Amino acid sequence: MNQVELSAVEKHYGEYHALRNIDLSIPEGAFVALIGPSGCGKSTLLRSIAGLEQISSGTISIAGERVNDVPPRRRDVAMVFQSYALYPHMDVERNMTYSLRLRRRSADLIAAAVREAAATLNLSGLLGRYPRELSGGQRQRVAMGRAIVRHPKVFLFDEPLSNLDAELRVKMRGEVRALHERLGATSIYVTHDQIEAMTMADHIVVLKAGRIEQQGPPLALYDRPANRFVAGFIGSPSINFIEGAVTADGGHVTWEGLERPLSLGRRLSAAQRVQIGLRPEHLAVATDGTMAMVVDTIERTGSQTIILGRCGGQPMTVIDHGRPVLARGDNLRLAVAPDHIHLFDPDSGAAV
Ligand SMILES: Nc1ncnc2c1ncn2[C@@H]1O[C@H](COP(=O)(O)OP(=O)(O)OP(=O)(O)O)[C@@H](O)[C@H]1O
Ligand SMILES: [Mg+2]
Repeated sequence: MNQVELSAVEKHYGEYHALRNIDLSIPEGAFVALIGPSGCGKSTLLRSIAGLEQISSGTISIAGERVNDVPPRRRDVAMVFQSYALYPHMDVERNMTYSLRLRRRSADLIAAAVREAAATLNLSGLLGRYPRELSGGQRQRVAMGRAIVRHPKVFLFDEPLSNLDAELRVKMRGEVRALHERLGATSIYVTHDQIEAMTMADHIVVLKAGRIEQQGPPLALYDRPANRFVAGFIGSPSINFIEGAVTADGGHVTWEGLERPLSLGRRLSAAQRVQIGLRPEHLAVATDGTMAMVVDTIERTGSQTIILGRCGGQPMTVIDHGRPVLARGDNLRLAVAPDHIHLFDPDSGAAV
């Protein structure tokens, strides 16, 4: 059974249409990431599932029960916010047990829940501290502890790691994922960081302007983006787009003087314009390469060299895993991985 099910969900804030025809089925135990640019409706969608926003139409079900009219505290979901939202005047233990005390759970149950959550989150030594006496990562753990003690059916995370520095964020990513596996609860995780989504989730939902652009397993979105937007959003550095066309015989695609056979099954009309998507990691500096590039900027990270430049007049980024000797203004040859050429309709943006 699906743990969370949304059907034709719409949300208006006055004139503003924030969610458009959202259909989403989340199986029990799944880890789903909602991603998309700022303002696309991620928090609105999450808050609608939590019951913190009233949807305008459509249905939301949790564990088979329609919850449109069920208040947040009876939906059996727990939400972890970006801001942690800890009570400053309560110590860690009281912050974690607040919701249980509010529900008048027994002292034994509360004590056991705190012990378990504190051990799980490595907070056992900090139960007497106040939020101001904790590091950012510790505060984030307390916020998660507060969700865990309730044993909810569904965890909702709204950018919980975005206030942490890069190193801690990577560490906490692993911890949240491990926690998910240990607890086995369904998790819905909002982030605008596509790397976070790719590494943590088993299903990704890409939103744009209140609409689902594509959803699926992380690598399916990377390998087969449904449109230009998803292709540009998944992958770092971003995919390159370059103008091209189908040849007069309809059998090849051509750009910047290059020609590649169209794979079987692709239905494109002769001489049709296309937009070609080439990921930086699928281009390589090669003396026998077929695509000419002029170098503008070279960024060396140690493990890789990111080369920014132009092919014809069009901007191009390449990731090289070696340390090529290069300077601004150099002319390079690039080899193009033949199985990694994405084609899009230049008008609709849809993959073709
Ligand atoms: N209470 C509200 N009244 C009116 N408009 C709102 C309200 N809350 C959100 N919006 C609008 O709805 C849109 C979606 O907002 P939402 O907070 O869901 O975006 P988001 O994807 O979470 O963005 P971010 O990544 O910046 O957190 C935005 O354009 C926002 O301005
Ligand atoms: Mg948000």
